Amino acid sequence: MIKLDKVSKKFATGTLALSEVSLLVDKGEFIFLVGPTGSGKTTLFRLLIRDTLPSEGSIFINEFDVVKLSKGKLSSFRKKIGVVFQDLKLLADRTIFENVVLPLEVSGENAKKVSQRVEEILRQVGLLEHKDKFPIQLSGGELQRTAIARALILSPEILLADEPTGNLDAATSWEIVKILSDINKMGTTVIMATHNVDIVKSMNKRVVHLDKGRVIKEEKGHHEEKKHEEKHEEKHEEKEKKHEEHVEQKDQEGQEKDEKSQKEEKKE
Ligand SMILES: Nc1ncnc2c1ncn2[C@@H]1O[C@H](COP(=O)(O)OP(=O)(O)O)[C@@H](O)[C@H]1O
Ligand SMILES: [Mg+2]
Repeated sequence: MIKLDKVSKKFATGTLALSEVSLLVDKGEFIFLVGPTGSGKTTLFRLLIRDTLPSEGSIFINEFDVVKLSKGKLSSFRKKIGVVFQDLKLLADRTIFENVVLPLEVSGENAKKVSQRVEEILRQVGLLEHKDKFPIQLSGGELQRTAIARALILSPEILLADEPTGNLDAATSWEIVKILSDINKMGTTVIMATHNVDIVKSMNKRVVHLDKGRVIKEEKGHHEEKKHEEKHEEKHEEKEKKHEEHVEQKDQEGQEKDEKSQKEEKKE
């Protein structure tokens, strides 16, 4: 779970990038973070990975108090969150395989396991055949998928994707969103920052609107609403059942009482 409470971020330049943002994200949710350029989307992501600290407010991610995180806990904390950066941050002089393997190499696993894991994740994003190519040899969509693969290599609980469809055509954008959606269905919490109105509308997920550093609106996706309705119905059914049971029990109690009093009457 992610919990932000009245988080503000004022940069040294004086810019107030975020202002009293409160947000609760459940495990397994898929959320769109939307808002015009400069509204604070990237800053919010930077705060979530503790790339920068808030000026005010608290941030909790699972058991981690992100603001007070000790240096010793930083690396285990960062493993929980995968990030697809707005500018991808791929290394031009490394192959796709080498770019994706980077976070694993530092974790010191054996070579065969590492290579298997990279191939598994490259297959998942449809890039296995490109593994020995360099970034310059790939299309925009393929580069985006490379960055997604690298973000997922340590099996994080949370995936942050910063405008992953920003420079892509509609068809390729949908491919990327499909990949993120599949990842989410397997249990990873996904937060995607985007401007893409078509995608946001069609996906029916929860949408958090940022403007000038403030959350100005939140919309619940239809899926969530449905779930809510279902829960409501369930509760209603449960109540009815309980009521019936209660009535039955009362009837029985009543009968027993009647029998008792009849017996007592007889005695008298
Ligand atoms: N490192 C920084 N130093 C100073 N100002 C920054 C810095 N990063 C972002 N900003 C400012 O904070 C605001 C929010 O930026 P950002 O989070 O990048 O927005 P978005 O990702 O929604 O486009 C903008 O006004 C931006 O210029
Ligand atoms: Mg941004």
